[in-house]
Amino acid sequence: MMSGFEQSDRGSNPSAERPLMTLTYRSRATSPMSETQLGELQHAAASRNHREGITGLMVYNDDRFFQWLEGPPASIARVWSSISRDQRHADIEAISVHSAPSRLFGKWNLKLSTGPADAVLDSVHAENATSTNVAAERLAALAIATEPNDARLLLNAAYAEFRSMSALTELLIEPAARRLGDLWAADDCGEYEVTLGLCRLQTFVREIAVDSVQQQIAQPLVVLVAPLPGEIHMLGASLDAEALWQAGHDTRIRFPSTEQALKQIVATNWFDAIDLSLSPAFTREHRAGQMTQIIDSVRHASKNPALVVVAGGRAFYDRRISGADVHADASSTSAAHLPDDVARARGARA
Ligand SMILES: Cc1cc2nc3c(=O)[nH]c(=O)nc-3n(C[C@H](O)[C@H](O)[C@H](O)COP(=O)(O)O)c2cc1C
Repeated sequence: MMSGFEQSDRGSNPSAERPLMTLTYRSRATSPMSETQLGELQHAAASRNHREGITGLMVYNDDRFFQWLEGPPASIARVWSSISRDQRHADIEAISVHSAPSRLFGKWNLKLSTGPADAVLDSVHAENATSTNVAAERLAALAIATEPNDARLLLNAAYAEFRSMSALTELLIEPAARRLGDLWAADDCGEYEVTLGLCRLQTFVREIAVDSVQQQIAQPLVVLVAPLPGEIHMLGASLDAEALWQAGHDTRIRFPSTEQALKQIVATNWFDAIDLSLSPAFTREHRAGQMTQIIDSVRHASKNPALVVVAGGRAFYDRRISGADVHADASSTSAAHLPDDVARARGARA
């Protein structure tokens, strides 16, 4: 059943709306939504979408959300930033982001479907299957090309459109890192190239982040960010540190090469939280046991007995392992959500 949508006048003038971007994601409602709650959500969202020049579809079925948003990249980034912080849903997973030649839902600021979602989703997925995150695929390919400057240009152009580091991270850089891992898994590139590609992305991100501004918050936390000792892929830790710093925290990034070195850091310095990450490209499932053991011994060595531990990396994004599996207080699926993940984990422990 399609219901109560607001008509938009934006769809009628496609020439005035370049560039156009499409973002899709799925998520799970934190508690079941009543018809009234859904109606209120849709009403408020549609009116903001109207102001932002966004059109799209929201499917709510069986406590799951699926949403398709299309509009100018900077507007999508702004609204996505709000949506991804919204406590009414969790397990938010960006499926794809790409530029689009035209709108699919040009008449609706937010079309709502609450009936069996399959038909709508099938058509959307069919569209996705051919265009899944084209930009991220391209970025991955450019990052391992002989001449990497095109990757830098693509990232700079995307940042100029998004004007948001967290959107750039979640929608482009992290998917490109996973894409590099997938290329390796399919034997389409070697491990050396993956590492090289990740290093280059890290360098380009640093260049972009040079101008970023730190939010001022009332109670900044002291957070240690580190790759798990032995993890050679540093991009995840670098993105995490940037996101936490931008969110206003006192962030220290370290690269301890052994468990002993990591224990030494937490034994001699006070940290409110630690973010430990595995590769953003490879799944590294086989390192779950080692991560568990390191987290246990870090807690034991920590100067702060109530240290909050958050674990990240592709293994958690792919839901191959959970935070609880490795004795962390929480896991993070994207640097873009990390500040909220840390705050929630801290709240849960208090
Ligand atoms: C599943 C879901 C979908 C949403 N979709 C939109 C949307 O399309 N547009 C929008 O402006 N807000 C949407 N929201 C609401 C935003 O999360 C947010 O509450 C609202 O934009 C106000 O932003 P602010 O909290 O940053 O002030 C959605 C929320 C949920 C839970």
